[in-house]
Amino acid sequence: MRIYRAKNYQELSRKAANIISAQVIIKPNCVLGLATGSSPIGTYKQLIEWYNKGDLDFSEVKSVNLDEYRGLGIESDQSYVYFMHHNFFDHINIKPENINLPNGKNPDAAAECARYEKVIESLGGIDLQLLGIGRNGHIGFNEPGSAFERLTHCVDLTESTIEANKRFFASADDVPRQAYTMGIQSIMHARRIVLIASGEDKAQAVHDAFFGPVTPEVPASVLQLHQEVYLVADEAALSLVK
Ligand code: GLP
Repeated sequence: MRIYRAKNYQELSRKAANIISAQVIIKPNCVLGLATGSSPIGTYKQLIEWYNKGDLDFSEVKSVNLDEYRGLGIESDQSYVYFMHHNFFDHINIKPENINLPNGKNPDAAAECARYEKVIESLGGIDLQLLGIGRNGHIGFNEPGSAFERLTHCVDLTESTIEANKRFFASADDVPRQAYTMGIQSIMHARRIVLIASGEDKAQAVHDAFFGPVTPEVPASVLQLHQEVYLVADEAALSLVK
């Protein structure tokens, strides 16, 4: 594991974008695993800036996103498909047919999860997976207790995640109770992983994930077993790491 200690969110975003852009330059038709949440917004902004300058070309890049709320689609501004278009895809030259997310509107969970795993497989796997981390150590929507061997599946969100994510909705009651998410195994198959964490409220999760025991109770702790992980965090998120 490599740890990049950034002074602040801006520096963190620049570093994460730098690793992603290197991936795109080395392999222009790479498969990027992408994430939502507030953490990667700065990274996407930086990538868009470099794209606008002419330094990056996404025309051959393929993307697969980690997760999506069950029941939400692009018409909902809380959906992850909307988030990705608004914060990234609509500002770069990625081809629409190369964009993949779980389809939250498919009510058949088993069929949707199987379809999504096939998509990842047909792309030849993920070259670089970007991750955020939940305050309870979740990655994607793999909540504490998720079995490490799971592939894409439908999850019941925990109260703590509903609580943390309600800021994007009118109220906690509006947060969907379920989501489709890549499983831990789907994530671990990625050839490279970049996890970004910012702010003091992530300090405990970062400490437990990277410096505690490897346990399903802290889903991100499985990343200690991955051979190429970059932790890009600011000083606040690393404040509990000696
Ligand atoms: C959600 C997403 C995760 C994300 C987490 C943290 O639950 N499913 O992929 O990592 O939130 O989000 P934030 O970056 O906003 O703290």
